[in-house]
Amino acid sequence: MPADTLSHWTNVWTSKRPEETSWFEERSEESLRAVERLGVGADARVLDVGGGASRFVDGLLERGHTNVAVLDVAAPALEAAKARLGARASHVRWIAGDALEPSTLSALAGAVDVWHDRAMFHFLTDEAAIARYRDALDRVLAPTGRVILATFAPDGPEKCSNLPVSRHDAESVVRALGTGFRIVDTWRTVHRTPWGSEQRFAWCILARS
Ligand SMILES: C[S@@+](CC[C@H](N)C(=O)[O-])C[C@H]1O[C@@H](n2cnc3c(N)ncnc32)[C@H](O)[C@@H]1O
Repeated sequence: MPADTLSHWTNVWTSKRPEETSWFEERSEESLRAVERLGVGADARVLDVGGGASRFVDGLLERGHTNVAVLDVAAPALEAAKARLGARASHVRWIAGDALEPSTLSALAGAVDVWHDRAMFHFLTDEAAIARYRDALDRVLAPTGRVILATFAPDGPEKCSNLPVSRHDAESVVRALGTGFRIVDTWRTVHRTPWGSEQRFAWCILARS
């Protein structure tokens, strides 16, 4: 990741409260429903990639999940989530680092049952970055693992957090990830930002092919 990307996200998370970001959700209902669709047990190893200060982790803990990790390049985002969770934060594995950097996820090789990414993948706009994402995913996802991926849809915004994004549907996600994955399910949602504008998202569940 370029140094300016790290400083961009660190700056975002130190200058805004989570509730002031466009991607804020009071409850991560769509993500939690997607996990339910998978029918995994409470001990499934869930990794929230680019999780920021999302409340997805809160919902997982409320549902009894015991094996949750949250990864983000911006340490202040994880600190905000930890502060919100209080004592419950100790039940979560927190990983501050670049998801595209092999060393960040080396401890999780083959050990992720559910890879969840809401609104991180779409920041990858060049083939080299997508290849590094694909390698990271391939290294950590268990053979029977599932991927829950939500990106801006083809008719979604062209920018997020003032950065250009690549917009996708499930087919283009799978094309980008190469031949190793197949679509299990796909659907669309409309996210409403805290200031009321609409953002169209494409969701998909993928499995190894
Ligand atoms: C639009 S926010 C979405 C946050 C969260 N997933 C949610 O739905 O609320 C994107 C997040 O991805 C993180 N991020 C961006 N690039 C990253 C990378 N290469 N590795 C890890 N985190 C990254 C940012 O710090 C930010 O928290």
